[in-house]
Parts: sequence; C-alpha cells; structure tokens
Amino acid sequence: MNHPLSDALVLFGATGDLAHKKIYPALQALLKRGHLEVPVIGVARSGWDLGRLRERVRDSLREHGDPDEQAAEKLCAQLRYIDGDYKDKTTFERLGKELGNARRPLHYLAIPPSMFPTVVKGLAALESTHAARVVVEKPFGRDLASAQALNRSLHSVFDEQAIFRIDHYLGKEPVQNLLYFRFANTFLEPLWNRNYVESVQITMAEKFGVEGRGRFYEEVGAVRDVVQNHMLQVLANLAMEPPVGADSEALRDEKVKVFRSIRALTGRSLVRGQYRGYRDEDGVAKDSEIETFAAMQVHLDSWRWAGTPFFIRAGKRLPTTSTEVMVELRRPPQNVFREALPPHCNYLRFRLGPDQVAIAIGALSKKPGPAMAGEEIELYVCNTRDDEATAYERLIGDAMKGEATLFARQDAVEECWRIVDPILRMPKPVYFYEPETWGPLEAMKMTESLGGWHPPMPEA
Ligand code: BG6
Repeated sequence: MNHPLSDALVLFGATGDLAHKKIYPALQALLKRGHLEVPVIGVARSGWDLGRLRERVRDSLREHGDPDEQAAEKLCAQLRYIDGDYKDKTTFERLGKELGNARRPLHYLAIPPSMFPTVVKGLAALESTHAARVVVEKPFGRDLASAQALNRSLHSVFDEQAIFRIDHYLGKEPVQNLLYFRFANTFLEPLWNRNYVESVQITMAEKFGVEGRGRFYEEVGAVRDVVQNHMLQVLANLAMEPPVGADSEALRDEKVKVFRSIRALTGRSLVRGQYRGYRDEDGVAKDSEIETFAAMQVHLDSWRWAGTPFFIRAGKRLPTTSTEVMVELRRPPQNVFREALPPHCNYLRFRLGPDQVAIAIGALSKKPGPAMAGEEIELYVCNTRDDEATAYERLIGDAMKGEATLFARQDAVEECWRIVDPILRMPKPVYFYEPETWGPLEAMKMTESLGGWHPPMPEA
C-alpha cells in the first residue's frame, strides 16, 4: 500500500548525541539518493542558533558521514532550528509557524523517553498533527508498566499507524536477510524445527565498554539496553512462522506470536555479569550492581520450538565485537564409522555484523586418507558491499513513507517487556568478569551440556 510521503522532518533532540552519531549521517545519505527533499527542523533547548546547529551537523558528517561537501551543504540549507523548552507552549507555536504549509510532518523524538509525554502534549496543539507521524527511539520504557504508560501517552494524540518505534536492529541488512533466507528458500523448512534443531545461540559481543555512556547505562543495564529489544527481535526473525502476506501487519502479527510463546524469564534462566573496571567509569556508582553482560535461556512454548533451547548472551568488554546466530542441528542418530564424529556436526551460522555479513553452513567431510575420519568444514558466503543503506537511513526513509514493517508495534514491545519484566527487579547476583573474556564462569555452565557457547568470528 502506498502512503503519502511526509512533507517535513522535525527532529527533537537536534543537538544531542544520537542526532550527531546516527541521524545527520542518515539524513545526508537519504538526501544523496534524492529521498529527502523536505525541510528539516531541529528542536532543542540548548541555547543554540541555526549557525551553531549547522556547525554541529557539519561536524557530525565529518566524523560519521560521507565526505560529500555538496550533500553536506544541501542538508545545512534545508535545516531550520527552534531553540526552546519542550514544556513551553511558545516552542510549539514557533514550530507551527516554521512548518508553514507542511501538512504531514514526521516528528522524530530523539530525546529521553521521560520527555515523550511533554512533547506529545505540545504536538497535540499543532494543526498538522492529525496527519503527522512520530518516530520514537528506544529505550521504549523501563519495564512493562512504563511502556504501557508511554503507549497510552502517544495514543492520546497519535494512532498506532502513525507511531514508528525504532529498533535499529530491524533496519539492518543481515537481520532482514534472516527472514529472506528462511522464507525465500525451501531447503531449510524441513529442518527448521524442534526435530532437527538442537539449540539456537544468539551472541552480541562488544569489545568496547560503556564509552562515556556510564550515566545512561546505570539506568538500563544490558537486559534493557539490548536484550529486551535487539536480541528478542533477532530471535523473532529466527523463530517466526511464515507470514501470510507481504504487508507489514502480516509480518508483525507473526512476530508477536513468537513473543507470546516465550515464557517470562526467571532467575534460574539468567546470569548477570559486570566487567571489572565498570565501577570506575564516569557516571557509574562505586557499588553499582548494573549488568554489563547477560546470558539467558529462553523457552518457546510453540509447536515448532517446544523443547529447543534458545540462548542469548550480550555483553560489553568481551574479546571481540561481533553479533552472530548459531543454529546447531542435532547429531546423526548413529555413527556408522569407527572413528568418533567431531563435536560439531551441522549448523547454520549467521554473522550479523559489524563488518562482514555472512552465512555459513557447518558440515563434516571426510579427511583425505585411509581412515573414515572426518573434519569440520564450513561453506561460507560473505557480503561486504559498502554502498548499502545504514539501518538509520533505511528506517528514517521508511518512516517518511509511512512504511511500518521495520518498526516495533505496540503489542510486540509490550510482550518483550513482559518477557524480561520479572528479572529486572530480581535481586540476582552480578558476577564480575575480566575485560576481554567471555563473561562470568557461571554463564559458561549454562550451555555446557550442549557443547558450550560458540565463539563468534573475530572482527575482520
Ligand atoms: C544500542 C545500545 O542500541 O545498540 C548500545 O544502546 C549498543 O549499547 C548498540 O552498543 C549496538 O548497536 P550496533 O549496531 O553497533 O550493533
């Protein structure tokens, strides 16, 4: 279905970190492809003027964007700026004037969620709001109750179809490819279930620490930061049933079914860790109990997956930066050779980033020689195109078009909070781990009976 294009982009939090690192480079890229021909109105309460914002945009493009002077120039020319408090009515009056004849603006809330209700209230007074769209950034709430409250606040002004909740993992090429690879091929389907899949592991490893985001991290921790959203979305792409059609709701319906089938997490299925040195980071409490690492087992009560364990681990200051999925198939029922089979027989490995995007199929092959002995081999396909749209470019472009497939729907977000909610307040110990190790030993035990965690490939 074709929806009308947004005719202005309003960026709340225009002077902030997210805008600097991700949003301006994405806008520049959209503009270069001819997909951003509308005014871009920055709003913030920093005491800045348009000149200063333009400098900041140039700086953002130098550091994180394309060295394309013409595109930078054009983006700066499309830029407007409103400096004002979000609580102040006149900020929105000025915004209304700046929007001029725009009838379908896209409002991007790149601001802390605690400010959403204030901004949404301000937007309610604008004439153009009945046809406007709104993009909201994660973290979408802190738990189930706060996510429900945020949803109520957004719905007081915007219909669900006008709300675009960003989880940038959904905009990543390799995450979309999980769906394509599963549903555009037939060879996987007979294997893709509890009968053949022994376990699934999703690892999101980051070599770096909290990198100056200590204060933010103290409020969230690994479960809220990346498990409740990115990791569960990847899991949904792996576990969902084929959607009944190509429209956004068919796909999002199937994802919600996966989330509904997941049991709420308990203390027994979780290990929390903290890297040594985290408590010395800026903005971090000296006795902080926040987890910088989490490993968990997820149970799906569905016809396809009952009994197949899904494991998730995510952490900072691990040995490498790499996100991978490993789908391990069951071993053959019997070894018909004299020599024992190597430990890992068949698997599918999806590398989701950061550099290469790859799919590998693990198999056993006979070692040349007289013995019927085998070795592990991998059939490996790798894609390293560098002209691809970034997740943010794709998602902002989609939101401007009103295309909702790659955004999280209210019911999905709330289901994801339901899954992690019980472990958020649980007085569960946090174990220390040394930087550049794979987290606390307790996490190793979780997968021991299945041959342990698979180390993802090191960064190229
Ligand atoms: C963000 C988290 O959502 O995702 C960060 O807040 C994390 O802590 C980041 O580092 C990882 O994203 P990517 O695209 O680099 O894998």
